[in-house]
Amino acid sequence: MLNEKVENALNEQINAELWSAYLYLSMSMNFQAKGLSGIANWFYIQFREEQDHARIFMNYINRRGGRVRLAPIAGVDTEWDRPIDAFAATLAHEQKVTAMINNLYALAASENDYATCDQLKWFVSEQVEEEETAQGYIDKLTLVGDNGMGIYMLDQELGARVYNTPAPLATAE
Ligand code: FEO
Repeated sequence: MLNEKVENALNEQINAELWSAYLYLSMSMNFQAKGLSGIANWFYIQFREEQDHARIFMNYINRRGGRVRLAPIAGVDTEWDRPIDAFAATLAHEQKVTAMINNLYALAASENDYATCDQLKWFVSEQVEEEETAQGYIDKLTLVGDNGMGIYMLDQELGARVYNTPAPLATAE
């Protein structure tokens, strides 16, 4: 059984994951409208992954006898002029999510809720990957600058990204 503090924090995390999904969907639509379909594809997959993150937490709350309480999702920006602006916003956002996951882990540990700590370990590793990936594209886009051919090639690369079900959902469903 989840204690109330941990349950509330998990519900806040679900809201943050769904907000992340909304943010990346907005980025995807922004670049689709600008004709950068590969970058749009990358952010669309990111949108799907964030919904998966929320789903993992929702499944977990229900398995532990808690209640999922979905709260309103705040609005997101709708305009990013250049791909590098979106990846910089992505990195800044993922750093905030990392801090939230760390705080959640610390709370669960302080409440002797080791099952929640165990569940969070996958997210701790996932956040390392999320930040590393965003930083990697910032580095590439910094190198490319305003070079149209470079942006075109990166758009091709990002267009090749395919969706994979994250491990905690692949084994649970
Ligand atoms: Fe769900 Fe991008 O962290």
